[in-house]
Amino acid sequence: MSTTLTIARPDDWHLHLRDSAILQTVLPETARHFARAIVMPNLVPPVVTGAQAAAYRERIMAALPEGMTFQPLMTLYLTEDTDPEDLAAAHASGLITSVKLYPAGATTNSSSGVTNFDKVRPVLEKMAEIGCPLCVHGEVTDREIDIFDREAVFIDRVLDPIRKATPGLRVVMEHITTKNGADYVLANDKDLGATITVQHLILDRNDMLVGGMRPHYYCLPILKRREHREALLAAATSGDTRFFLGTDSAPHPTHAKEAECCAAGCFTAPNALSILAQTFEQAGALDKLEGFTSLHGPAFYGLPVNTDTITLTKGDTEVTYPNALQAGEHTVTVFDPGFPLYWSVG
Ligand code: DOR
Ligand code: ZN
Repeated sequence: MSTTLTIARPDDWHLHLRDSAILQTVLPETARHFARAIVMPNLVPPVVTGAQAAAYRERIMAALPEGMTFQPLMTLYLTEDTDPEDLAAAHASGLITSVKLYPAGATTNSSSGVTNFDKVRPVLEKMAEIGCPLCVHGEVTDREIDIFDREAVFIDRVLDPIRKATPGLRVVMEHITTKNGADYVLANDKDLGATITVQHLILDRNDMLVGGMRPHYYCLPILKRREHREALLAAATSGDTRFFLGTDSAPHPTHAKEAECCAAGCFTAPNALSILAQTFEQAGALDKLEGFTSLHGPAFYGLPVNTDTITLTKGDTEVTYPNALQAGEHTVTVFDPGFPLYWSVG
């Protein structure tokens, strides 16, 4: 017995592709299933200017295997020195789709991020004027704030004041992890959207911490308690167009994950859609999958829905993915959802 579901080809509205050997390895994993992705700019050094975004775009296209198609939607990394005119020119030419705000120190390679939000006011005002969306890593970084509260505190202390001070600024709350995040989106208007990752829909902090620490489940924002996961699943399966898929697939070499100080990020690109199909089916919401993966994101960004389709098939036998992929001299471990998968793609 098999069940099939054909949907418009998905996009990934939050993706880390990295550079060099890792880029070469992970790009086909995304391009196989997704037509476009919002490409995160947190390289070392970060992508802060239009010229750097153009060069990174070229490296991505050069790494795309023959016969595959993929459109990287480039982003600029917002710093306190970002030039509003350079940003506006990069946006007007179609080179960049959005700008990423990392509070300084919030996550991997975020040391050039923003500490004093007043310093980026002119840039945010320019973005509101030209209609360039701001993608936000929504966590405060103050040491005295508990890591599990950082998203909720960010909404109150930083995000809401920025939005009130900048009417017309379109904001995507990236990878929301809390009921607070979902509720904040629901309480606002169409200028505010949110991406949700695969891991935050299926895992809570117990999955990461009970019975031993699982480094491959460590990502930022960190997994929260079960009630938050349930609120995210409700949001993703609700059909509300303000919620869409951003996998935040974030590859690190296996040795950096399985380390004394583990790097943050889950590499979900290979099996994201398989996991999502199963999760939506279990939630009785398979009919909402296409909206989440393929329709709501383009609507938020004002882009056309992909005209081609993918077919997801549920069979009786387990669908497996490699444990790890080779990337140059290292490997990158593929995310393991912790339950057998029965949905295959393509
Ligand atoms: O877990 C994460 N990994 N969260 C982020 O915000 C960044 C990402 C990365 O670049 O590794
Ligand atoms: Zn990310």
